[in-house]
Amino acid sequence: MLNIILCGAPGSGKGTQSGFITEKYGLQHLSTGDVLRAEIASGSELGKKIDALISQGNLVPDEMMYGVIENYLSSLPKDSKGVILDGYPRTVSQAESLTELLKKYQMDAIMIDLLVDEQLLIQRLIERGKVSGRADDNLNTIRHRIAVYHNQTEPIALYYLHHGNYCPVNGNHAVEDVFLQIERILDSHIK
Ligand code: AP5
Repeated sequence: MLNIILCGAPGSGKGTQSGFITEKYGLQHLSTGDVLRAEIASGSELGKKIDALISQGNLVPDEMMYGVIENYLSSLPKDSKGVILDGYPRTVSQAESLTELLKKYQMDAIMIDLLVDEQLLIQRLIERGKVSGRADDNLNTIRHRIAVYHNQTEPIALYYLHHGNYCPVNGNHAVEDVFLQIERILDSHIK
């Protein structure tokens, strides 16, 4: 099984690269952002609470996210080739919980960290905001999301560095070039 924890700031290309990885390696893709947006779209009471957090660019509480990941991992088919966790973990506490969960399901994972300059992140998200309809793709919220990323998510890089499965990728390049770097990491891991 090839399991990937795909991390990076908002706009770093997690969703884009997940598409390429899924297509080439046949992995299953879980985007926690997509799961949360589906809950919002359902119109549930929970969705309303989530909407209030996401539209301001804040993270959803760790306990809620733990349930999403546990359900997902526990329902993976036995013949799965592996998974991409896109957007989880986003806090050190989530990273610690994930380590325990992966142990429980006898899985391991590599962490790919997409590193992109801040100006580029903002440009990409402003551009996407013209068509995405996402409530969090506006300049003020984008800036807040990036600040939340620096404060709460960036420290997980050190966590995975200590665990020996940290793989940084320069995400400033064209999508195909970023994918080439990811392919090199995944192919060497498979061998
Ligand atoms: P989520 O949906 O995961 O949003 P995000 O992390 O802000 O990431 P984005 O989807 O904006 O960007 P991306 O990195 O996927 O880049 P993409 O490929 O789309 O999460 C939304 C919210 O949900 C969070 O803010 C939080 O509130 C909540 N949440 C989710 N997970 C959570 C968790 N674990 N804990 C707590 N809360 C959680 O690309 C962006 C744009 O750039 C696209 O237009 C794309 O075409 C373009 N692009 C991509 N790569 C390149 C490239 N190399 N060159 C040029 N353009 C590029």
